Amino acid sequence: MSEKIPKILVFDFGAQYAQLIARRVREANVYSEIVSHELSVEQVQEIGPSGIILSGGPKSVRIDGAPTIDSRIYELNIPILGICYGAQLIAQQLGGTVSQFDAGEYGRTTLSVTGGELLAGQPKEQDVWMSHFDCVTAAPDGFTITASTQNAPAAVFESNHIHAVQYHPEVSHTEYGQKTIERWLDISGVRRTWTMANIIDEQVAAIRQQVGTRRAICGLSGGVDSAVAAALVHKAIGSQLTCVFVDTGLMRKNEGEQVVETFQKTQGIELIHVRAEEEFFHKLKDITEPEAKRKAIGELFIRIFERASGGIEDAHFLVQGTLYPDIIESGSQHAATIKSHHNVGGLPEDMEFELVEPLRSLFKDEVRLVGKELGLPDEIVYRQPFPGPGLGVRIIGEVTPDKVAILQEADFIVRDELEKAGLDREIWQSFAVLPDIRSVGVMGDERTYGYPCIIRAVTSEDAMTADWARIPYDVLESMSSRIINEVEGINRVAYDITSKPPGTIEWE
Ligand code: XMP
Repeated sequence: MSEKIPKILVFDFGAQYAQLIARRVREANVYSEIVSHELSVEQVQEIGPSGIILSGGPKSVRIDGAPTIDSRIYELNIPILGICYGAQLIAQQLGGTVSQFDAGEYGRTTLSVTGGELLAGQPKEQDVWMSHFDCVTAAPDGFTITASTQNAPAAVFESNHIHAVQYHPEVSHTEYGQKTIERWLDISGVRRTWTMANIIDEQVAAIRQQVGTRRAICGLSGGVDSAVAAALVHKAIGSQLTCVFVDTGLMRKNEGEQVVETFQKTQGIELIHVRAEEEFFHKLKDITEPEAKRKAIGELFIRIFERASGGIEDAHFLVQGTLYPDIIESGSQHAATIKSHHNVGGLPEDMEFELVEPLRSLFKDEVRLVGKELGLPDEIVYRQPFPGPGLGVRIIGEVTPDKVAILQEADFIVRDELEKAGLDREIWQSFAVLPDIRSVGVMGDERTYGYPCIIRAVTSEDAMTADWARIPYDVLESMSSRIINEVEGINRVAYDITSKPPGTIEWE
């Protein structure tokens, strides 16, 4: 077995910051995981982390029932970094004082550094990001206060193996935040060697061990997660993997061809390409109600997938592109938001396969890096999220081959113009929608009666909330004039300026 890789545990106190902290640690090339703050000292010893970070949290340590940690953990001699709530908890549990000072601090604040090892080599005055109403007014015995701000007299305090910062080093607004996290890892003696190449090697070994000489199948959707999972499993077990790609006919222009090109031709993966367009169009005939449409697409997808995979002999494993945030969201009792929308285009849980989930410890941006390292093209690696039912939920009313063809062309222009403007990676999702109405227009001397097309482009962090993207007018103008000139059947273009909530990202 290879040498144990260093691991940092981030104790979660319910802030959305825990994920960000774990990501920052990983960016510093150290593997990190989010765990419940309720972990006992025995559980911590069993995991054997190289360090522990206590995250921020929305509660006050001064109220009854505020989340805390097993205080024996402080005696383990494992390096600990407390951040915001975590810093206050250290003060409170080790005999310092936490109180409400003159006022809280929110946003950009000037930190004055007076010494210490955590901030050694950093400017004496620097901008940090604060978000607190309580603060530490006296550090515990044995600790030295090494930095302060106007309303946080003990903004940083430290002892031998415990460091505490009131501000948020994990947010990008904190000038030397990442440096501080790296410095903490270095002074804690943590080897910073975790890279994408390591992840690939580790996963390849784990997949080989799990699968042995048996066969695995993987459903490709055209999305990043299933693509990277498939490429990784293929690297591990080669021809023991068969991928199944059900082409619903509801993908964006050229995407179906690209899946085949990338996986079959470039990666050399055995691929069953099921051309199921006709079946889908037949099934969708006369269905106009959004939920009925989703259900019809989802059911047919599963039926076709089962049919195709049933023909693969000895398939024992199913590869899935589950990511770390999916696991934290369903596992952490303190996570603020839980995504619940039904994943149409997904597979049922009762399929009789053992799961292979090689991405379950990775964040989305790490998955992209792994994909790049495995040689997948940018078009796949940087692809926007795409709903399982595809263009089916972007065509209002009945889905017909003609409407799909119109929408694919209009949608392609939206993508193309955004890419030309260099905006495609800043935008979370951008696409065209085809409503079920027509309006009058005039082109040349002719009266037209065609469909409008609605452009939808949103910025978002996680699809739970979203804002409409402020695309420059000239980019919108090029989209509009190209769509009207190039796409037969569309004679009007509108831009959707609804945020989520109250709107949703998709139209159905
Ligand atoms: P809404 O429209 O609810 O969408 O704001 C939120 C995010 O989810 C995507 N979406 C889906 N993804 N299967 C999926 O895999 C689905 O059935 C589905 N419906 C919506 C949507 O594109 C957005 O990113």
